[in-house]
Amino acid sequence: EIVPVVLCGGSGTRLWPRSRATRPKPFIPLIGENTLYQATIERCSDRSVFGAPIVVVGEKHLEFARPQAAAIARDAHFIVEPMGRNTAPAIALAAHALDPDKIMLVCPSDHHIRDTDAFVAAAQSAADLAAQDWLVSFGIEATSPETGYGYIRRGEALAGGFRVHSFVEKPDHDTAMKFLAQGDYAWNGGIFAFRAGQFLAELERHRPELAEQTKAAFEARTIDGDALRPDADLFAAIDGESVDYAVMENTERAAMVDAAMGWSDIGNWDALLQKRDADNAANVVIGNGEIIGASGTMIDSDGPHVTVVGADNIVVVVDGEDILVTTRAAVQRVGEASRCRAQ
Ligand code: GDD
Ligand code: MG
Repeated sequence: EIVPVVLCGGSGTRLWPRSRATRPKPFIPLIGENTLYQATIERCSDRSVFGAPIVVVGEKHLEFARPQAAAIARDAHFIVEPMGRNTAPAIALAAHALDPDKIMLVCPSDHHIRDTDAFVAAAQSAADLAAQDWLVSFGIEATSPETGYGYIRRGEALAGGFRVHSFVEKPDHDTAMKFLAQGDYAWNGGIFAFRAGQFLAELERHRPELAEQTKAAFEARTIDGDALRPDADLFAAIDGESVDYAVMENTERAAMVDAAMGWSDIGNWDALLQKRDADNAANVVIGNGEIIGASGTMIDSDGPHVTVVGADNIVVVVDGEDILVTTRAAVQRVGEASRCRAQ
């Protein structure tokens, strides 16, 4: 049995104004009827493969995480953080809550995966390697020099996967270009399989203070129904770090599985536009709008009716009091909007 550990944090500011601090990207319906968070839980709903999900979520987003999970899975449990301390502490809390021999499948809650069967198959291969004390990443074919991803270099073959020769988190552009040219690098998909006890042993080895602090915060926990809360003061004192920097870059036990499953991390409006149903001119209208004499343009409005005439590759998003107008080429800069942080 594989235990899904669903991580919900971060604010997804590049998808502002639809995604905002008060209601971030995992919890809004972006593709289809379900939210990305619900789709994540749904992917792990085959109970012959997966156990009940553990959701690690910030206190201020429990109001979304709990009811949205209830609509998909009746048996979800929640580990509630008083504030975000990045992914290494979030995963450590879940590992502390589990029997050391349980296999945990760490799933970001804000990705889109087209092929669920391929995902489940990759999860099973990864779980087999994790049972042998490998820390297993899902490798995604690298197709562009993205600087927001981790890069993993394939090493010797293992049953069902490969040893990781090296793991480099968020390289600069030149380094990413070099990795792509070299060809034996994959993107880290941000999904991991660990044996809980082995993850904690490697955290202890490479970040002893983090291991100690998360253990102390976990041991002073309170439990209220389906929600477990670490001690707020002890958790607040932790220096946040991502699992990629804290553990994956340093461990000698990194492995990977190839996961060809139609993965996208929907990092910006352009990536989202490519996942939505487009017309013949590659235009997308969600909600109230009309596009005339243009191509590659997207309107997403829950309010006023938006009309775009003759403007190609434009993105217009209306959300409550906010209107975003940008070009597809500039979508990476949306997170710079001062309104992103305001609410
Ligand atoms: N519970 C909790 N608490 N979840 C968190 C926290 C936190 O403090 N911080 C982040 N998360 C969640 C996010 O919501 C997301 O689902 C997941 O953990 C990964 O965090 P991101 O902040 O989105 O990481 P990233 O995109 O910069 O990088 C990671 O993902 C890439 C693929 O999308 C890395 O693993 C990269 O190596 C990887 O390529
Ligand atoms: Mg991310």
